[in-house]
Amino acid sequence: MIGIIGAMDIEVAALRARMENPTVETVSGMDFIRGRLAGREVVLVRSGVGKVFASICAQTLILKYAVKAIINSGVGGTLTEGLHIGDVAVSSACVQHDMDTTPVGDPYGLISGINVIELPADAAMTAAFDRVCTEAGVNHRVGVIATGDQFVHTQERRDWIRKQFGAVAVEMEAASIAQVCYVNNIPFVSIRVISDEASGNVKIDYMSFVQKAAATSSEITMRWLAA
Ligand code: ADE
Repeated sequence: MIGIIGAMDIEVAALRARMENPTVETVSGMDFIRGRLAGREVVLVRSGVGKVFASICAQTLILKYAVKAIINSGVGGTLTEGLHIGDVAVSSACVQHDMDTTPVGDPYGLISGINVIELPADAAMTAAFDRVCTEAGVNHRVGVIATGDQFVHTQERRDWIRKQFGAVAVEMEAASIAQVCYVNNIPFVSIRVISDEASGNVKIDYMSFVQKAAATSSEITMRWLAA
């Protein structure tokens, strides 16, 4: 069984519509939808926005549904000239840009206890999504995806995250799911279709492009499941 997490309705709607024999169970206010997609057993769930909801969701997928891998599919802001609205970021690793214990001597982003900054994606899953994007003719980059409980919208914050972590995209859930997967030894990857530039006209761009971006993300996930 594969777990698929999207933060918002819009990020799971297209996959939900294509599920065969769906059955729904509600846990912690989240609908866990079990069924088949492209012939594969999956559990699809809308986590809600932000690191806490995403963590609850990932841990539930692991403990209650015994998923053998988790995919996070959704939208994000670009941090690189190489990615524009509609393009795709595939995670090689995730970082938490808002994790900060620097006052006690740690580097930015260090997760105490496990002592890592970059939470690596599963290399085979990253490679498979890279391939799917290439075959689909989608401009994409494999790289670090940065997560925090902030909708990034200023040039200053955007530049800081890019410089500090070398990240290609920013969003609000992937690295928390990655941390849950890391401590449970579950393979994980995140794909994010760019909905905005994470600065400037971020609200207008986001509102205009989020729907199309979310649909692309679902399409890429379907292609990966079918591959
Ligand atoms: N999701 C989509 N765009 C985002 C942004 N600019 N910051 C955080 N999460 C996002």
